[in-house]
Amino acid sequence: MKYVNLGSTKEKVSEFCFGAMMLGTAMDKSSSFKALDHFYDEMGGNFIDTANCYAWWLGTGEFIGDESENVLGEWMKARKNRDKLFIATKVGARLKDPYHIRNSKGEVYWDRVKDEYEGLTKEVILREIDNSLLRLKTDYIDLYYTHVYDKNTPIDETMDTLNTLIKAGKIRYLGASNLSANQLRNANQVSEAHNLQKYSVLQAEYSYIHPKEGTNADSETHAGKEMFDYVASEGMAFCAYSPLLKGIYTNREKRNQYYNWHLYNSEEARRRLDLIENISQKLNITGNQLVLAWMLRHNPQIIPILGFSKMEQYFENIQACNINIPEEYLTLLNA
Ligand SMILES: NC(=O)c1ccc[n+]([C@@H]2O[C@H](COP(=O)([O-])OP(=O)(O)OC[C@H]3O[C@@H](n4cnc5c(N)ncnc54)[C@H](OP(=O)(O)O)[C@@H]3O)[C@@H](O)[C@H]2O)c1
Repeated sequence: MKYVNLGSTKEKVSEFCFGAMMLGTAMDKSSSFKALDHFYDEMGGNFIDTANCYAWWLGTGEFIGDESENVLGEWMKARKNRDKLFIATKVGARLKDPYHIRNSKGEVYWDRVKDEYEGLTKEVILREIDNSLLRLKTDYIDLYYTHVYDKNTPIDETMDTLNTLIKAGKIRYLGASNLSANQLRNANQVSEAHNLQKYSVLQAEYSYIHPKEGTNADSETHAGKEMFDYVASEGMAFCAYSPLLKGIYTNREKRNQYYNWHLYNSEEARRRLDLIENISQKLNITGNQLVLAWMLRHNPQIIPILGFSKMEQYFENIQACNINIPEEYLTLLNA
């Protein structure tokens, strides 16, 4: 696997980031280890993304959000490879009380979830960094993301606290996730005014199809031109989550199962999906692989975060780094 610059930091990371969201939940410990071993040993990857809340929402109440960091920590300890990796985790979207967010059948009250996020106060960040370090069995995090926007906490409190963690050696770089371009600009301006380290990385949803015009009001939905322009102007890196939009490119049935499909279901999206089907058949690869391979050739550069809940999905997706899209098809895809 190739290595790329992480924005204007001096760090080199693998061109694919390993999305650890399903480790310890949808993927049991043994298959989690197998996927991590393959990514690290066979593919030479070093960049891994987790959070302090993955993946509490699966199952019917048996998970609380510790699972992914726990399994990743156990794996790094067993393989003694912590210092060879670039580990990203996140704070802010853990639930205050994961035990009371479900009805008696174990179904999540999704309309309450955002109000239940812990947020980004000084108290939460100082507590949660130590919990993440314990679970990950390490004494530093390479990239620490604020997971969501917290409208109730002044941004200077958050940025100031994150900077005390940098000074204490607990974190190295700061990342932001799920912010609008304006929210990100504002946070960076506050940091600049206070002489604090700014965000080096943005993590947002991005894929080959985009939401319909007018449906992208929510900063959690999808990155667009304004965001790319701002990120480039700041020399920030861009990491793309949900690059396959839950697997819709190869399997048509998954489109209707995807909870956000109504935001994407447009004439333009259908044309793009047809093009993906057409070109992937000609290249004898899957639509999902074509999208991931296209993302690796994206200008401006993006680092896709691979998502999967099964070993066979992981193996299919990771092979996209070995796919060379002929120039004529790349031109068609970009057009
Ligand atoms: N910052 C954030 O707010 C945020 C949000 C989401 C994710 N992330 C990060 O980004 C990573 C990737 O995100 P994601 O899991 O949402 O990615 P994704 O690209 O949308 O893929 C996830 C889902 O797509 C389906 N899928 C993936 N590969 C497939 C294949 N080859 N064939 C068929 N179906 C396939 C699977 O669905 P099924 O399980 O239904 O089979 C899988 O669980 C996560 O691990 C996490 O680290 C961050």
